[in-house]
Amino acid sequence: MDEIRLSVSGATSVITFKASPEDLTGKLQGKNVIVVTDENIFPLYRDLLQNIPVVVIPAGEQEKNLDRAKYLYQELLKHQADRSTWLVGFGGGVITDLTGFVSSTFMRGMNLMFVPTTLLAMVDAAIGGKNGVNLGEYKNMIGTFRQPEQVFVAPDFLQTLPPEELVSGLAEVIKYGLIHDPVILDMLNGKGVETLFSENALLEKLIIRSIRSKVEVVEQDESDHGLRRILNFGHTFGHAVERTHHLSHGEAVSIGMCVAMEWSVLKRMLEPEILKLACKMLDRFGLIPVISPDPDTIIGVMGKDKKIRDGKWVYILLEGPGDPVIRNIDPGEYLAFLHELRNNGFYERIHGKS
Ligand code: GLY
Repeated sequence: MDEIRLSVSGATSVITFKASPEDLTGKLQGKNVIVVTDENIFPLYRDLLQNIPVVVIPAGEQEKNLDRAKYLYQELLKHQADRSTWLVGFGGGVITDLTGFVSSTFMRGMNLMFVPTTLLAMVDAAIGGKNGVNLGEYKNMIGTFRQPEQVFVAPDFLQTLPPEELVSGLAEVIKYGLIHDPVILDMLNGKGVETLFSENALLEKLIIRSIRSKVEVVEQDESDHGLRRILNFGHTFGHAVERTHHLSHGEAVSIGMCVAMEWSVLKRMLEPEILKLACKMLDRFGLIPVISPDPDTIIGVMGKDKKIRDGKWVYILLEGPGDPVIRNIDPGEYLAFLHELRNNGFYERIHGKS
């Protein structure tokens, strides 16, 4: 098993990589643990979790709320948990966000381990210590920064992941390629969806490069006031269309990244060829469904994103692969740009239609 360490002031996360699911038993041995997972994952790993206290919650983003957090606090009390207890979030991003939040607030902090079972959680949600719950329509509005002491990454968990979720997670991997580690783009050059399911070694390498990218960024800016904001590339627009068009997270972020690259091209920062190649890659992995988002609706939803609620619209642009730029943008200008995209067939073009 390999290890990657993420160190920020006062905290270290040990990310154990290339583990097999069976190694988890050894990791949990000798610890007082409570596992939180969801009703989709628990039946798949019931044997692995036998003789361990497990709290199973319904699956889905709607569970990421304060009521569910309160339920988990009560379960922790029932199990006589204290600050030395390990809370283990076993699942995808909803589970890691929720358990991360609960672990950091129950008795002002208890031990935390993540066992991510989705590609998205392995390369993003479980790494870097951001957690949170939604407050009505406001995504991740309540949360803390709290690095998990341990993250247990076993790529074999992906074998039980629905294919569309694996593909969705790949958008974040490609994001790291665009904003930090262009070698990722080289590794995916000419590859398609079947690669993800047939080339385990490639997938493992992509996961490890993605984790390293995130670790390098978070170590420089844990609290998201500077460099870390580059991880939001494609996400502000993406979160908006994810809600309005019910897209997968990966599809929404992929279109968001193409929109951000188009804006970068218009600002004469990015070569049009890079935009073309990147969107083609995303499309090859089936991550670009055709949509025709209404600009006013999108701007309304984007205005509710906590990252731009303080009046400043921070947006991530690209000067080239591995070369992101953080800019404040003018919402009026951006609205006109979105109208232009809709009128000039941009959304069809990135899908390879014209
Ligand atoms: N998912 C973005 C971040 O952790 O900053």
